[in-house]
Amino acid sequence: MFKIAVLVSGGGTNLQAIIDAIESGSLKDVSIVKVISNKEGAYALERAKQHGIEARCIRPKAYADRADYFRDMIDDINASGADLVVLAGFLVVLSGDFVSAFKGRIINIHPSLIPSFCGDGYYGLKVHEQALKRGVKVTGATVHFVDEGTDTGPIIIQKAVYIENDDTPEILQKRVMEQAEWKILPAAIQAIADGRVSIKDGLAYIEGSISTE
Ligand code: GAR
Repeated sequence: MFKIAVLVSGGGTNLQAIIDAIESGSLKDVSIVKVISNKEGAYALERAKQHGIEARCIRPKAYADRADYFRDMIDDINASGADLVVLAGFLVVLSGDFVSAFKGRIINIHPSLIPSFCGDGYYGLKVHEQALKRGVKVTGATVHFVDEGTDTGPIIIQKAVYIENDDTPEILQKRVMEQAEWKILPAAIQAIADGRVSIKDGLAYIEGSISTE
């Protein structure tokens, strides 16, 4: 069984997509061993509990030192035996120590086609606001490995979503989630769990095909 720890900050619809994929059998031989939120009231924690998954809130503000916060996170994830750390709407900027502790074993879902609308300050609804402001006609979502930069790691999988005339940031966010995020995140986890994803010279390669329909 391939074990994953999922880090969250908010509603947890991407966490739910992973849970649903596991429960329906479309995501095979994968189990969520831990969910960690940086926010106490995050509904994602509730989703985890409803499905019998160990869930914990670790608040950065509870630590005098940022390094202590990440040390605790690293220890907790290591204790869970997770093979992969999945950032599913986790909005805390990771420390270099955290990234090194799980080198090549952290993935993130981002709600745009990287390298567009990503980097510092681009998260959640803000990404869709900027896409509409720029007038792009196609956007989407990306799953990538996490390195020391913000949204700069090797891209694993992307899916495009068309923008429509009457889109608001909220409408677009929902369509990107439904048509792209909730499909490519479980698909990327499956490919990694199957041992079909490798990194070479800073780029990710997938053996065989991935279904995101
Ligand atoms: C998702 O749209 C995710 O792509 C985004 O936050 C949302 C979390 O929603 N992540 C980022 O913007 C990271 N830069 P969720 O809690 O319902 O999964």
